[in-house]
Amino acid sequence: MESITGLPRHVAFIMDGNGRWAEKRGLPRLEGHWAGGKNICPIIIYLNNHAVEYATLYAFSTENWSRPEDEVSGLFHLLEHIIGKETRKLHKNGVRIRHIGHLDGLSPALQKSIKRAVNLTAGNTGMTLGVALNYGGREEILNAVRNIIDEEIPPEDIDEKSFGEYLHTVDFPDVDLVIRTGGEIRTSNFLIWQAAYSEYYFTPVLWPDFNEEELKKALLAYSQRQRRFGGLQSKAKCSGKES
Ligand code: IPE
Ligand code: IPE
Ligand code: MG
Repeated sequence: MESITGLPRHVAFIMDGNGRWAEKRGLPRLEGHWAGGKNICPIIIYLNNHAVEYATLYAFSTENWSRPEDEVSGLFHLLEHIIGKETRKLHKNGVRIRHIGHLDGLSPALQKSIKRAVNLTAGNTGMTLGVALNYGGREEILNAVRNIIDEEIPPEDIDEKSFGEYLHTVDFPDVDLVIRTGGEIRTSNFLIWQAAYSEYYFTPVLWPDFNEEELKKALLAYSQRQRRFGGLQSKAKCSGKES
């Protein structure tokens, strides 16, 4: 980005507000999901062009199974369509796609399109795009614990770094910035381990209206944050003697 210095290395998106976008227009909720789906590729290509190394999208949570069956199946159909359609474009731009979550339970067609996208782009060296689909943060941590127990790893060999290798995001750095659209101020079980020290940017803008301009606002806000990770920014600032 020309004018903003200090871009995040890993940005994660909670793409919320599709349903309300549709309801405001008197349209079925699925129309909002389709409108939101169109937004994904331009946002990712923009970040890739500005050398952001990792992005993760929250596409379907483990909690979203509680929605009406027709919305869930409509969402799967839409996700299969978007992955099929946008993968070629992302591949041409050097983006590497990774699935974050479990394939079990997803429709066979969606599983197939995810596997195809991941395999096709596996060798790419541009941005890594995590697609969190059938993903839940608590489930992910429980799954890691189960695998550690299964492998009989001695407790003294488990630390934060090695634990991270049992998560779906293995090889991803911690999240620097979480952007949530749609006005809710909560994490909704998204990357709760990886975003432990993230900056959060909440905007009332509904996901289908979230565009390059809104993204720039979020990145600018991030660039102005002071990240301290429990430490001190600088002696002068913290003593209160200088401003
Ligand atoms: C987010 O939009 C997309 C998914 C959860 C898949 P919503 O469907 O949650 O939209 P709202 O929150 O009802 O407006
Ligand atoms: C979070 O949005 C999940 C995704 C964006 C995929 P939700 O709309 O499901 O979150 P809640 O239910 O408002 O917390
Ligand atoms: Mg929502």
